Order: sequence, then C-alpha cells, then structure tokens
Amino acid sequence: MLVLGLCGSLRRASYNRRLLHAAAAELPHAVTMEVFEALTDIPPYSEDSAAPHAVRALRDAITAAGTVVIATPEYNSSVPGQLKNALDWASRPFPDNSLRHKPVAVVGASTGLFGAVWAQAELRKVLAAIGAHVIDVELPVGLVHEAFADDGRLADPSLRSTLADIVGQLLREAGFELCA
Ligand code: FNR
Repeated sequence: MLVLGLCGSLRRASYNRRLLHAAAAELPHAVTMEVFEALTDIPPYSEDSAAPHAVRALRDAITAAGTVVIATPEYNSSVPGQLKNALDWASRPFPDNSLRHKPVAVVGASTGLFGAVWAQAELRKVLAAIGAHVIDVELPVGLVHEAFADDGRLADPSLRSTLADIVGQLLREAGFELCA
C-alpha cells in the first residue's frame, strides 16, 4: 500500500516534513510513504482555469494512495494558505473528488508550545467538508525544534506511540491488515 504524505510547509528544512518522515518510520515494511513535493507549484485556485499540471499531479497522487497523512504547521492560528489552496483544488470536481472517502490523518508541529492544534482542528474541518474520511485524532508536537531523536523518530515515547497508533488506525481504515 502507498501512503501519500502532504506537508503544509514549503520550507526546505520544515519540521513538519521531518514529522512525515517520522510517521513513515512507523509504517510496516509492506507500506511505503511518498511525500508530495510539488505543493509549491500549485497556483492560486480559480474556477476560470482548467487544472494545471501540478494540480493534476496532486489529484493523481491522492487517487493512487490508499491513505493520506498531512503534517501541518500553524500560521496565524490557522492552516497555511498554500495547503488550503491545494486542498481547494483537490476538492473539485465536487463531490467526486480524489479525497472523497479517502482515509486521512492530520498531525502537526510548531516551534511554540501548542503544536499547531488550531491548524489541525481547522484542517480536519476542511477535509470533512471535502468528503474525506478524517481520522479523529490529533498529534500536537510542540517545541518541535527539540522533538526529534538522532534516528529521525520522535524522541518523546508517548508522542511516538501516538504517532504509531495514528498510522495503525489509518492503515486499518484503508483495509490494510496489520499483523499482531
Ligand atoms: C508561524 N508560527 C506559528 N506557530 C504557532 O504555534 N502558532 C501560530 O499561529 C504561528 N504562526 C506563524 C505564522 C507564520 C507566517 C510563520 C512563518 C510561522 C511558527 C511555526 O510554528 C514555525 O515556524 C514552524 O516551524 C513552521 O513549521 P515548519 O516550516 O518547520 O514545518
């Protein structure tokens, strides 16, 4: 099975991208994660435009994946604009869009104390409106600049266990049989 990773930050050294890689490290061997790296190429949404190449690539990547994990920072207490814009493109045509009924998990990290909780809550609301099957859990990683161990996984055992649980739940929702 393929898991698509979407990072809400365009920053090259994004902690949220590192969080996606930490999630990938919790996947069983038979499952791989592909991180969509072309978010920056997606133009502002306009109903006047046909979907450009980067949008078609995003929709195809979502369709090809069994599940999606989105790691997002919080910008001014909300979802980063480019991520919201990409999801607006992905939501059309509605209701038969690539995210409809797709199991999606939202996690997030910030350098502050609260770990992008508001952005995660807003993102779950947006994804539900689009018709995705949103896993009802959150992973707020605060003080993220101190959060990773040398192996790239989350250093805090309870955060790491929550991330593994989220990944496991996501795969089960996608029909993947996890060994005990
Ligand atoms: C932030 N940051 C931030 N953090 C937070 O906890 N709540 C917030 O509302 C905001 N707002 C905000 C706005 C803008 C424009 C920027 C650039 C940053 C800080 C943010 O969490 C921090 O920069 C993260 O490291 C960004 O995530 P990446 O790029 O490391 O994945």
